[in-house]
Amino acid sequence: MNALDIIIKKRDGFVLTQTEIDYFIQQYADGAIPDYQAAAFAMAVYFQGMTPVETADLTMAMVKSGDQVDIASIRPGEIVVDKHSTGGVGDKTSLVVLPIVAACGLPVGKMSGRGLGFSGGTLDKLDAIPGFKTQLTPQQFSDQLREHGLVLVGATGDLAPADRKLYALRDVTGTVPSIPLISGSIMSKKLASGAQAIVLDVKVGNGAFMKSVDNARDLAEMMVAIGKETGRQTVAVLANMDQPLGQMIGNVLEVREAIDVLKGGGPQDMIEHCVTIAAHMLVLGNIADTLESGRSMAQTTLREGYALNKFRKWLSLQGGDVNIIEDATLMATATFQQPIYAAQSGYVAQVNALTFGEASVKLGAGRAQKTDVIDHAVGFEVLVKVGDYVEAGQTLYIIHANDGSKLATATMQLQNAVEIEDEAVDALPQFFGVVS
Ligand code: URA
Repeated sequence: MNALDIIIKKRDGFVLTQTEIDYFIQQYADGAIPDYQAAAFAMAVYFQGMTPVETADLTMAMVKSGDQVDIASIRPGEIVVDKHSTGGVGDKTSLVVLPIVAACGLPVGKMSGRGLGFSGGTLDKLDAIPGFKTQLTPQQFSDQLREHGLVLVGATGDLAPADRKLYALRDVTGTVPSIPLISGSIMSKKLASGAQAIVLDVKVGNGAFMKSVDNARDLAEMMVAIGKETGRQTVAVLANMDQPLGQMIGNVLEVREAIDVLKGGGPQDMIEHCVTIAAHMLVLGNIADTLESGRSMAQTTLREGYALNKFRKWLSLQGGDVNIIEDATLMATATFQQPIYAAQSGYVAQVNALTFGEASVKLGAGRAQKTDVIDHAVGFEVLVKVGDYVEAGQTLYIIHANDGSKLATATMQLQNAVEIEDEAVDALPQFFGVVS
């Protein structure tokens, strides 16, 4: 067996065997196959695709390239359910969903990443909380999971290292948008970090990876198929990302909104999104019998303050300042808070997630390069949704900035982000279905 034969076989549209895929990924991870051959392989997959079985084999090959966390043994007899969002603008779902499900008795031992581009990572949001530690020893991770049922740490470099290497190569060879490669990449990290069941929050729209519902459904179906092939129950929720989720974009602002939801308030779309994802997790974890009862359990934890108590405990266990829950000003605040007003009365026809997302990176809320330093205080409060009626002079959004020139750039960039029309506009659907 050699790399060239495998590349040619895939280039010509044949199905690779598990042995061939294992060989290629292992040799690439070890440095025996050079980047130029791996790039040719990725391009062949990009054009020829892979079957669900091949994609599952690719996923498992990448899992085997590094450490595998055995979370199940820490809480024997319980199902460890993970969640993953494919990335969107204002997506702070994990900060709310994890305390909800943990408060319902579903253990959560999660590994998360940092954000790149406008889809921020949960770790960056947690870094906005003074004192919160996202690096724990394996012993601290298991102790906290065993005793308190909720822990979140930064994913280590040893999880699916073949994926890390291949993803960096795909990034510079035009091979990121391939359904088997994206699915294998995401699922390999979930499986390596010990998930026994997975809820995928697949975003669709201008502020997401997948711009059309059809593409998002293809991606969701492939990831659910990998779950099936690898023995992990997987459910994917297709969620709209044409407008930002909730109102807040930016790290401190998103933590503030998550706390509002945990206190029983917050924007309706954000509450609905969190309750839906939590309900699917509770069903997969055998805590709820039906989606309806999962929803009702999730709503109860929000209404009765159980999820908020769990969040407080989680923060204190990982060194975070719990006083931020009562006093958000203990987190960084931006020097400038510039409201932008509606120039005319009418109906909101567009709140462009992509434009807000790109502007948030320029403002410093996200990273253009891996090495960029994030400004946790900056971002946007977006106060309108598609379909709302607004009066001329009403505040549409507020820019939080720490630098006058970045504020000016964001103001320019966002000029057409919110569109207002005279005719009534329908609200956007929040979900496009579930793949299971
Ligand atoms: N996220 C990942 O982890 N991998 C991809 O390929 C795309 C998005």
